[in-house]
Amino acid sequence: MEEIRLIVDGKRLDGRGFEELRPIKIEAGVLKRADGSCYLEMGKNKVVAAVYGPREVHPKHLEDPSMAIVRYRYSMAPFSVEDRKRPGPDRRSIEISKVSREALEPVIMKELFPRSAIDIFVEVLQADAGSRTACLNAASVALVDAGIPMRGMVTSVAVAKVDGVLVLDPMKEEDYYGEADIPFAFLIRNGKIESITLLQMDGRVTAEELRRALELAKKGAMQIYQLQRDAIMRKYIREEEVVE
Ligand code: CDP
Repeated sequence: MEEIRLIVDGKRLDGRGFEELRPIKIEAGVLKRADGSCYLEMGKNKVVAAVYGPREVHPKHLEDPSMAIVRYRYSMAPFSVEDRKRPGPDRRSIEISKVSREALEPVIMKELFPRSAIDIFVEVLQADAGSRTACLNAASVALVDAGIPMRGMVTSVAVAKVDGVLVLDPMKEEDYYGEADIPFAFLIRNGKIESITLLQMDGRVTAEELRRALELAKKGAMQIYQLQRDAIMRKYIREEEVVE
C-alpha cells in the first residue's frame, strides 16, 4: 500500500498547525418551527440542530414523574458523505445518538420539567470527520436558544494522532489514515472546564499521549466555547433590534 503522509514540512494537509481548529461558523435560531436551533460549520462539516421542548412525552409510558427525559437523534443525510449513505438509522448513528445524549444530559436541568420531553434532532448535511463533535456543539447552542435552563455549555472537539504527532480537530484524511482518533466533550461552567462528558477512542496511543491529547482538546474547546457564546449573543442582539 502506498504510504500516505499527513504531515508535510511541519504542516497538515490543509495547511493547519498541529494545534489549530478548522474554521468554525455558528448561527443560532435558524429554524422558525423549532423552539431552538443552530446551524454550524466546522471545516467541511455542515450540521443543523433543532430542539423541541420541554413538551409532552409521546409515547406516554416513557414519562418520568421526577424529571424531563432527553432524546437525541443524530442523523446523516444521504448526500452528506462520498458514497451515498443509506437513509435511516444504522448502528453507528444509534451509538452516536446515545453517547451524545449522555454528553449533554448533565448540563440540562431536567429536574425542573417532570413528565416532559426535550427532543434534540441533529442533521448532518455534509460530513468530513468529527461530525459528532460538530453536532454536539450545535445541539448545545440550540438548547440555549430554546431557553432550556442549563448548568453551562457542552463543547466538543477531537484530537487525532497522525504521523506520530497529536493534532487538534482532525479532518477526514487524518481520521482515515491516522493512528488514533479521540473525540471529547466537556461541560464548561462559568468559563471553566468542569468535567468530561464524552471520551471515545479508536486506535492506539500511550498513556502520556492521552494526557497530552486531553490538554490539547481542552484548549480547542475553550476557543469553540467563545464562538458558541458569541453566536448566542448575536441572536439576542438581533431579537432586541426587531423588538425596537
Ligand atoms: O464524523 P465522526 O468523526 O464523528 O464519526 P466517524 O464514524 O469517525 O466518521 C468519520 C467520517 O467518516 C465522517 O465524518 C464522514 O466523513 C465519514 N463517513 C462516511 O463517509 N460514511 C459513513 N457512513 C460514515 C462516516
